Amino acid sequence: MLKARVTLDPAAVVAPVSRRTFGSFVEHMGRCVYTGIYEPGHPLADEDGFRTDVLALTRELGVTTVRYPGGNFVSGYRWEDGVGPRERRPRRRDLAWHSIETNEVGIDEFARWAAKADVEIMYAVNLGTRGVQEALDVHEYVNQPTGTHLADLRARHGAEKPYGIRMWCLGNELDGPWQLGHKTAQEYGRLAAATAQALRAAEPGLHLVACGSSGSSMPTFGAWEATVLEHTYDLVDSVSCHAYYEEHNGDLGSFLASATDMDHFVDSVVATADSVGARLRSRKKIQLSFDEWNVWYLSRFQNQPPLTRWDVAPPVIEDEYNVADAVVVGSLLISLLRHSDRVTAACQAQLVNVIAPIRTEPGGPAWRQTIFHPFARTAALARGDVLRTAVDAPVYETARYGEAALVDAVATHDAASGDVALFAVNRDLTRPVELTVDLRAFGPPRRPAGSWTLCDDDVRATNTRDRPDRVTLRPAGEVTADGNTATVTLPPVSWTAVRLAAR
Ligand code: AHR
Repeated sequence: MLKARVTLDPAAVVAPVSRRTFGSFVEHMGRCVYTGIYEPGHPLADEDGFRTDVLALTRELGVTTVRYPGGNFVSGYRWEDGVGPRERRPRRRDLAWHSIETNEVGIDEFARWAAKADVEIMYAVNLGTRGVQEALDVHEYVNQPTGTHLADLRARHGAEKPYGIRMWCLGNELDGPWQLGHKTAQEYGRLAAATAQALRAAEPGLHLVACGSSGSSMPTFGAWEATVLEHTYDLVDSVSCHAYYEEHNGDLGSFLASATDMDHFVDSVVATADSVGARLRSRKKIQLSFDEWNVWYLSRFQNQPPLTRWDVAPPVIEDEYNVADAVVVGSLLISLLRHSDRVTAACQAQLVNVIAPIRTEPGGPAWRQTIFHPFARTAALARGDVLRTAVDAPVYETARYGEAALVDAVATHDAASGDVALFAVNRDLTRPVELTVDLRAFGPPRRPAGSWTLCDDDVRATNTRDRPDRVTLRPAGEVTADGNTATVTLPPVSWTAVRLAAR
């Protein structure tokens, strides 16, 4: 059998696990909001019209932070359309997704949903068609204690207490030619700096995120981050990263190695940010907010015929995920955790229906897609510190990313409980790998206290409305531990989590 080895040391700490790593994204796009989180006529809707089945799944997923209200949508959004009496809210064209926005849900409703889901809001302001004043206005509406015009308006709309939103995205993907209000790096850098300065004057201590390039394959990648950070370095905390992966032309081997690209992406943005910091003679380190990541079959989307109608909440990019997609999602989480010293927030895009771990049918059930499982398990088990995880594994050649390790892994250690959580993927298409975990540095032995694997003889198997649990987690084959080492067999094309508890 193929063999791999992981060596762990409680002293080799990357950083504490940031709870914000387990963020998600709710955009006014397709059926994410309408018939996703919100469907007043649904038999399971609560008094506010929120689907309680989706709320329960959101909590089960372990989501901590939710980016809102977009995405491309935000670059043409007027936040004030979504507040006040519903019957007076305007219907508007959403030019990003060519649909009608009814504004039935706005920030007040979303804040109520977020409280029920027990998640923090990461709010994105419109720096596409709007600017500093509108960012200040929405900030006053959501965060200012009563006593000013817009704070009092919020109170009149039913929310006396400010929402206390800490994380603010300064626009979305503004280097993308598809973006309303698309800008050059100079234009955006200046606007982001002015907006950041104004928001800081309104409320010190906010966590501000400048837009990075919308993808590492953009011609602007690298130069965009450098220019934007030259304008904003002292004013923002993070720069954003967005990445979507898919299997191209049946090349499963490359697809399974997608996390090597994410590793490279993160390292490149860190290097760019640090070089700006060095030029500015700053000791500050810019953090990365990986606030859009997932598997997305973007090539299928681009081949869709152009939209010719204006519908309310039409189904858009409702990708159905298979076993291999879930393994990739698990491995992307491994990459994000591994970089916890710099990636301090991340949002899987999106939460419901739109390239999402949760699917719903209008008037019908909600179910977990395959990608739900590695996310939920990782969010539940990753505690304490991320450990620098040395992996010794065979390698294989991929057409897209060059050489990749057959096994990738990361571990966390919770010093309070003594628990170790290990997350691992086997990228081999046909062969299992015996993984040995070297725990000698821990001293007192650890015992296996739970294991979960996602794999299937059919890597194309999916969950559907009629077979919602076709793909789920199962206990990993026997996990043995002899005190100083633990051994687990990773099936081909699989994601596995193991909990090792202090005796
Ligand atoms: O998540 C879907 C879309 O992908 C978002 O609206 C946009 O920011 C990105 O291009």
